[in-house]
Amino acid sequence: MSEAVKSINPVPYHASNWLSKVIVRPIQRKDLLALEWDGEYNHFRRVYLEVFRRMRSGLAIMWAADLPEEGIIGQVFVQYSSSRQELADGQNRAYVHSFRVKRPYRGAGLGSKLMNVAETGLIQRGYKYVTLNVSHTNPGARHLYSRLGYRVVGPDPGIWSYHDDRGVLQQVNDPGWRMQKRL
Ligand SMILES: CC(C)(COP(=O)(O)OP(=O)(O)OC[C@H]1O[C@@H](n2cnc3c(N)ncnc32)[C@H](O)[C@@H]1OP(=O)(O)O)[C@@H](O)C(=O)NCCC(=O)NCCS
Repeated sequence: MSEAVKSINPVPYHASNWLSKVIVRPIQRKDLLALEWDGEYNHFRRVYLEVFRRMRSGLAIMWAADLPEEGIIGQVFVQYSSSRQELADGQNRAYVHSFRVKRPYRGAGLGSKLMNVAETGLIQRGYKYVTLNVSHTNPGARHLYSRLGYRVVGPDPGIWSYHDDRGVLQQVNDPGWRMQKRL
């Protein structure tokens, strides 16, 4: 196979082979470093640790897509409750965020599978609505959410902040849409 073809399709197996082997499971403490994806997301180290603590307290769940022999290739986090009740109220409404799939594995249905697991878990807990925010600069993700049954319910200012792995406060300004789905 030429280098050009390899770079277009670097997934080691045919899609139908690898996707059926993926296990979607809650993240464990030992997985936290793997979520940094070889440095691409190390700025979120403290954010991930905080969500993990919230999961330990029953306030959130972090789902990982684990491909045996490869490791974690995707993730989606769900917040059950938030100080922002319009996002998650701990009873009826939950908030999905940090949804991503490693680039070589995109477009094969893994993202849809992750969302399906997250939503099924929420239905089992009695939740009625899921909310999420999607950036104006991400029409591809918006298209996927629409296909999965999410509808735009309003604008999202996309302003938030976090401390990066060096402890430096980072401000994010990424306006988009608020989307919602009735489970
Ligand atoms: C969004 C994401 C998790 C989807 O994962 P995935 O495994 O590719 O999802 P699926 O294979 O189930 O679905 C692919 C769909 O996503 C859409 N899509 C998402 N992002 C896209 C992009 N950047 N460019 C083109 N299409 C995109 C495709 O149109 C496709 O829709 P279709 O199946 O109706 O044709 C993945 O693209 C990703 O990690 N993107 C970067 C992070 C991100 O944008 N996360 C969402 C933040 S709100």
